[in-house]
Amino acid sequence: MTITQDNKPYRPYGSAQNLLYCHAPEILMEGPAGTGKTRALLEKANLCALKYPGMRALLVRKTRESMTESVLVTLEEKVLPTGWPMLGSPSRPHRQSYHYPNGSVLVTAGMDRSSRIMSTEYDMIFAFEARELTEDDWESLLTRLRNGVMPYQQAIADTNPDAPTHWLNQRALRGQMTRLLSRHQDNPAVSDEYQKRLNQLTGVRRDRLFKGIWSGQEGAVYDLWDPAVHQIDSYEIPHEYRRIRSIDFGYTNPFVCQWWAIDPDDRMILYRELYQSHGLVEDHAKTIAEQSDGESYEATITDHDAEGRATLERYGIPTTLAQKSLRSGIQSVTRRLKIAKDGKPRLILMRDALIQTDSRLLEQQKPTSTSHEFPGYVWHRGADVSETPVMVNDHGMDAMRYAVVYLDGLENNSLDVRVLGQ
Ligand SMILES: Nc1ncnc2c1ncn2[C@@H]1O[C@H](COP(=O)(O)OP(=O)(O)OP(=O)(O)O)[C@@H](O)[C@H]1O
Ligand SMILES: [Mg+2]
Repeated sequence: MTITQDNKPYRPYGSAQNLLYCHAPEILMEGPAGTGKTRALLEKANLCALKYPGMRALLVRKTRESMTESVLVTLEEKVLPTGWPMLGSPSRPHRQSYHYPNGSVLVTAGMDRSSRIMSTEYDMIFAFEARELTEDDWESLLTRLRNGVMPYQQAIADTNPDAPTHWLNQRALRGQMTRLLSRHQDNPAVSDEYQKRLNQLTGVRRDRLFKGIWSGQEGAVYDLWDPAVHQIDSYEIPHEYRRIRSIDFGYTNPFVCQWWAIDPDDRMILYRELYQSHGLVEDHAKTIAEQSDGESYEATITDHDAEGRATLERYGIPTTLAQKSLRSGIQSVTRRLKIAKDGKPRLILMRDALIQTDSRLLEQQKPTSTSHEFPGYVWHRGADVSETPVMVNDHGMDAMRYAVVYLDGLENNSLDVRVLGQ
């Protein structure tokens, strides 16, 4: 089967072909990175829009901003015919819908603006990187599936595998979703070099992004990490909160600057983050100074890089040297990740803290923010008590640890032993 429209031919393989014919009400299209999941969903959206005049489909991700980077590029460049009037203004980041001449419409949205989504009804819902959603998100999306223009209504989620306990995997295991397995051989466009890069990943990230299996975080350093618990929507930080910044230098690896606020309950909130590779410290310093305008900080904690620190200081950013002790620092962070008596952890990350996504890191399948580092921050497998974390993609992890250790000091080891011995 080849679908030719305009100058953009598409031939679906394997799971992608099954997806086009499948009428199941809930579908989970899962698989490793770059296997053509998103393309397949978008092709189906476009075909249904052409076939069923007046249909409405929702294209959704956790945040509207993340749609622009990934899904909408493929939609506009690979799927939609070139030169259609629906590609006029406004520009991609502001586009809210794609109207077809036959009255069909594809609406784009993020769950971060869910009131817009919830006020209308759809024939189809396409959720991309659905592991970022909660099951509540998914179930509230399902209530919107009743436009009734198409002979069937359908919600399709695409995702890389996550932990086996993830609600998407569980939902499919319970038979509530039809599972389609997308595999590397389903995408003829994928390069050997890309595959090789995936093959070089380590730990759970390799399991999920290369092998495509729902792999646990047994080896995770911060196994308490749970996006549903430790990430929150943004809000304006009150002026009087204590603030600190923490920095991990890098060039090939990302340079990370985290802005933390400390609320009256001693909860640390990451409210802004710079996570950028291949930039000069000079440029980062300018960005930091700009972003920090009007705020004041108790300290800016950095790792050991004399030249980098000197550059920051030239731009009016005085620095404090981080205490780098790894293992006890990790214990201090772990204490903060635990849920306190008030039902909340004492370290939280705002979901859209990131100033800007580094597209080079995205392309390399590397984490693009501190929150993305958690699942891949693992102990060396099979190691004994003297185990250390695998030192890859740990730049946000380091900066976060410096901030925690600055506030809390190092975990008192002798105390720990006593507690354990009780
Ligand atoms: N059958 C196909 N023919 C030609 N190109 C394809 C095909 N399937 C996918 N591609 C192209 O391969 C690239 C990767 O596909 P896509 O983004 O859909 O992968 P994905 O599985 O969603 O990846 P990720 O897990 O990273 O989200 C895209 O540029 C897409 O257009
Ligand atoms: Mg995708």
